[in-house]
Amino acid sequence: MEIERASIQLAEAVKAASDYTGQGKVAAYIPELAKVDSRMLGAAVCLPDGTILSAGDADVPFTLQSISKICSLIVALCQNGQKHVFERVGKEPTGDPFNSIIKLETIKPHKPLNPMINAGAIAVAGMIQGNGVEQRLDAVLSLLRKMTGNPALSINEAVYCSEKRTAARNRALAWFLKDSGVLATDVEETLDLYFRHCAIEVTAKEVARLGMVLAADGVIPETGERVIPQEVARICKTFMVTCGMYNASGEFAIDVGIPAKSGVAGGIMAAVPQRMGIGVFGPALDEKGNSVAGVKLLELLAKEWNLAIF
Ligand code: DON
Repeated sequence: MEIERASIQLAEAVKAASDYTGQGKVAAYIPELAKVDSRMLGAAVCLPDGTILSAGDADVPFTLQSISKICSLIVALCQNGQKHVFERVGKEPTGDPFNSIIKLETIKPHKPLNPMINAGAIAVAGMIQGNGVEQRLDAVLSLLRKMTGNPALSINEAVYCSEKRTAARNRALAWFLKDSGVLATDVEETLDLYFRHCAIEVTAKEVARLGMVLAADGVIPETGERVIPQEVARICKTFMVTCGMYNASGEFAIDVGIPAKSGVAGGIMAAVPQRMGIGVFGPALDEKGNSVAGVKLLELLAKEWNLAIF
């Protein structure tokens, strides 16, 4: 990939996709997220040698939110193995919104359908081991610090507290999981861990690095250090294709065709196998909770650079 040309193309794509920010709304159910400027859009690309290209609001910090579900899943799989994890959370897309409760009761056994929806990610948080919430969070944070190369990565306290104060739906999901026996750990502590890992603060550039590590099957681009087992990276990328954009995953797979994971703060992490990681930040969301301009931007880049994996 010719770097200068790619930088110009990235800037042009950000400019073109910016027109779409007006079509979405910032998430308001977490009050702190409603305070951000909905017109922002930024993107970064991380290449296999660690080179970062960026355009627009690529240095603006935002919280990972559901993108962190990939990181908690990695930790849970490394600590417990696949058998333990997938006895408690499924591998199937839902076709329902990310915070839906309905299938928890109607499907038997009552385990969440996949680890990307809120119910599934809360179940996964329950499997992260450690002595108290700080140590359990540290397991997620230290993986993310290695993946991003930023040892100072930490949580945004205001967003964390804002979600913790208002999370009636997630509490309902967690208590249902407790009742079904899926959640073996303390409910409030597990929710606390979940809210904290959702509130880990990053930039689009850092998200591009996360994507590149997955694109490289779990290896840090510059150093070659393996931080995620190859099999776990493969599982994550597969979930990103089938469930990463929630009930828009099928449409995204056709229109864009890249493994990706979105979050309600407006981030999207994309991993183009062996080629690049892409981090996007655009807080205006569509009705399914995905960044409107971010999805458009990935669609433009996928066409321009022929990124679709299918
Ligand atoms: O639990 C929640 O609702 C948020 N902390 C995360 C949800 C989310 O990011 C959904 N993504 N589009």
